[in-house]
Amino acid sequence: MSARRFLAAALAAGAVALHAQAQDAIPPAAAPCISCHSVDGRPLLADVPIIAGQPLAYLVRALTSYRDGSRTGGQALVMQQFVKDLDDRQIATLARWFSEAR
Ligand code: HEC
Repeated sequence: MSARRFLAAALAAGAVALHAQAQDAIPPAAAPCISCHSVDGRPLLADVPIIAGQPLAYLVRALTSYRDGSRTGGQALVMQQFVKDLDDRQIATLARWFSEAR
């Protein structure tokens, strides 16, 4: 492949990637989660669990139990701060987003 064709192909691939990202826009409720869990649910911080690709029902249960205070121990208090004001719909949206994250 000539350098020029390679460049064209690379640019086209980049455009496709950007387009895919724009379509799967991150839900607004997930903005506060990113600093610890990363956009794709694969954190760079050692003490933060990987939530990407976890089963939807597991994530819903985890978030709900942090919210109602029934999940304690470890760093549960940290998570409680970030879910205490979420409603069930926001929790479902967040759980779906991170569950489908690859
Ligand atoms: C300040 C950093 C921080 C932020 C912000 C944060 N988390 Fe967490 N998250 C953690 C830590 C630390 C844990 C482990 C808590 C424990 O020990 O139970 C955790 C645990 C979780 C778990 C349970 C994972 C498992 O394996 O059981 C889920 C789900 C989760 N977070 C989702 C979220 C979502 C959704 C948000 C945004 C609303 C969020 N987190 C915001 C640090 C954070």
